[in-house]
Amino acid sequence: MTDFLIYFAFSVISYLLGSINTGILVSKILYNDDVRNYGSHNAGATNILRTYGKKAAAITVLGDALKGVIAILLVRLVYFCFKNAHLPDLRSVTYFAAFFAVLGHNFPVYFKFKGGKGVLTSITVIIMLDPFVGLATLVISILIMAATKYVSLGSVMGAFIAAALAVFFRTDDLGFVVLCVLLAGLIIYRHRGNIVRLAHGTESKLGRRKR
Ligand code: G3P
Repeated sequence: MTDFLIYFAFSVISYLLGSINTGILVSKILYNDDVRNYGSHNAGATNILRTYGKKAAAITVLGDALKGVIAILLVRLVYFCFKNAHLPDLRSVTYFAAFFAVLGHNFPVYFKFKGGKGVLTSITVIIMLDPFVGLATLVISILIMAATKYVSLGSVMGAFIAAALAVFFRTDDLGFVVLCVLLAGLIIYRHRGNIVRLAHGTESKLGRRKR
């Protein structure tokens, strides 16, 4: 029962933290606007970049990455402070925290459940939990984005790569494999519109557009 409560508490805290969608806040606070009315209608750094430019995008990248970091650090901090208490497996709890932070980003309770696609928050938590899988995914995704100028293509390919790396190289850590597969599934699901546009050749390339 106590174990369940620990998992539950960190899942809820992480979801609430993830729901703080930086892109929406940036558009509302700095521009008295809502980024979800423009471009791809997504509340993420790519759409912020094409709608408001580099500065706003940089703040969004930072905020969306940071909340994944905080969700995991919070679990680690509590475990550090209560070293002698009987607590469930630390890594398993961090997997829940990571997943729910991304879920909050995608479906934010504060913003009518219309959030982003979870790429930045996902890659940040994966890097924290497994630097090899996370950084390898990040580098390959950035190369794909740079070569094609399609952020969405890099994101979707990155989702497949992270899941594949976890499945092939982390067979001893089922929790991590499940986390990567779930995050990849969420990213692909959230990019279904992008995938259709990519297939039809109508996807927007990286760059700024007028509102
Ligand atoms: O991380 C989101 C990116 O992959 C696609 O963004 O705005 O082009 O749908 P967007």
